[in-house]
Amino acid sequence: MTLRLDAYRSLWRDQAELGRDPRRGGYSRHGFDDADLALREWFAAEAEARGLVVEPDRNGNLWAWFGAPGPDAVVTGSHLDSVPGGGAFDGPLGVLSALLALDVLEARRFQPRRPLAVVVFAEEEGSRFGVPCLGSRLLTGEFDADAARRLTDSDGVSLPEAVHRAGVDPAGLGADKQALGRIGVFVELHVEQGRAMIDLDAPVAVASTILAHGRWRLTFHGEGNHAGSTALDDRRDPMLPAAHTVAAARRVAGKVTGARATVGRVEANPGGTNVIASTVDVWLDARAPSSPDVRTLVDELVGHAEHVAHAEGCRLTVHEESFGGRVVLDPALRTRLAGWLGGVPVLPTGAGHDAGILAAHVPSAMLFVRNPTGVSHAPGEHAEEDDCLAGIDALAAVLEHLAL
Ligand code: HGY
Ligand code: MN
Ligand code: MN
Repeated sequence: MTLRLDAYRSLWRDQAELGRDPRRGGYSRHGFDDADLALREWFAAEAEARGLVVEPDRNGNLWAWFGAPGPDAVVTGSHLDSVPGGGAFDGPLGVLSALLALDVLEARRFQPRRPLAVVVFAEEEGSRFGVPCLGSRLLTGEFDADAARRLTDSDGVSLPEAVHRAGVDPAGLGADKQALGRIGVFVELHVEQGRAMIDLDAPVAVASTILAHGRWRLTFHGEGNHAGSTALDDRRDPMLPAAHTVAAARRVAGKVTGARATVGRVEANPGGTNVIASTVDVWLDARAPSSPDVRTLVDELVGHAEHVAHAEGCRLTVHEESFGGRVVLDPALRTRLAGWLGGVPVLPTGAGHDAGILAAHVPSAMLFVRNPTGVSHAPGEHAEEDDCLAGIDALAAVLEHLAL
């Protein structure tokens, strides 16, 4: 079935300027900020234009229902938020593809025998409030509602204030048995965030597993002082142990097969050029094929961080912001999807997704669309139009099989 190319291009065009980040390049669209609210409005308008009924759940995830909400629903979707300076495809491709897959089914006069919904999960990147997949973790009860209400962004804005702006009652945040209970199966389409599909020469693939993944904030406490009048021997400079720890992250991760450790964010307080910092925050993202592997890596790195902090007369505090174990996406479901799509490749991913959170609660699957460079979480992230159209047709085929 040919797809209305104009619909594809206009969906991209209509949201292309929302949340552009002129300083970093790419997009900065974070949970319930102005750009995210505008994108949510864009999604709701497009869904309603297709006759879908749009409603936020108690955690600010947006649900667009094709027909009445009901049990055993076939649900697809992804997220609209980004990392700072992120690409255009991570998240929005899955949402836009879900809308266009419904267009394909509509054009075929397909009549689903199960309820169908498109969902937009909130704050998947965790770039504003520090918890990845916050919307799906709250929905499933995997993140405590009271802890969520205590979350604040770097400007001190609380999650309750942010969700209130989106029309969500903060008192309602928390596990949503009713919304979760409606999901019979969840399928997320996502741009691949690696190079596997280039080497396989495949425009579409199915996901098999997701690495275990956690995030920690390491705070090095020293003594703020003057950069000029403080002799080297008189310093307790937290930047030194912070720097040692950043370098050690790569070394320690290299000892664990398949592991990754990344420090992409460091904040010196107060952050003056001529000021010895009083504290330095270092955020660690660590991933590995198993939870014990991640724990081993982080324990060794924290031990090293404590050692170098002590050597400089500094103190270390560590806060675990999030942790999730290795995800195996439903083997029977992924085999069915690969079969329906003519035997497309099945591949692991190192990137986390809302499908990875739902997978512990409902049968979940992912479709990947080829990323010609493998670059993601950067302005250069891209997917070719033909591959995206192939992804939409694949998603439509999967939804049709599931909703029969
Ligand atoms: O960080 C991740 O793996 C995902 O993109 N949120
Ligand atoms: Mn991402
Ligand atoms: Mn994503």
